[in-house]
Amino acid sequence: MADNFLPALAAAAVPSGKGETVELGGRRIAVFNVDGQFYALDDTCPHRGGPLGPGWIEGEKCTVVCPLHGWEFDLKTGACLTVPSRPVRSHPVRVVEGMVCVSVQ
Ligand code: FES
Repeated sequence: MADNFLPALAAAAVPSGKGETVELGGRRIAVFNVDGQFYALDDTCPHRGGPLGPGWIEGEKCTVVCPLHGWEFDLKTGACLTVPSRPVRSHPVRVVEGMVCVSVQ
């Protein structure tokens, strides 16, 4: 399988408990840091397009809460805990030499 991981941003640019939004492969991708573990979701909330990057991270549950109306998403899978029929796309992540790299699918 081809290695299609693209460098998104420096790991140091995303503090633990925060998210950052980047443009990658023509899409807006939200990258999150939970205690040094990185996750990537499409930035666009499937409810009404709110930005997930600046959402609130619930570290114990490993979820992000959309800042517009509070829908909650699993950072590992993109599953929506609020409305299960409306998940967001998740993307594989690797950290290589201090860079967070995302495979945008
Ligand atoms: S736009 Fe995200 S919950 Fe409404």
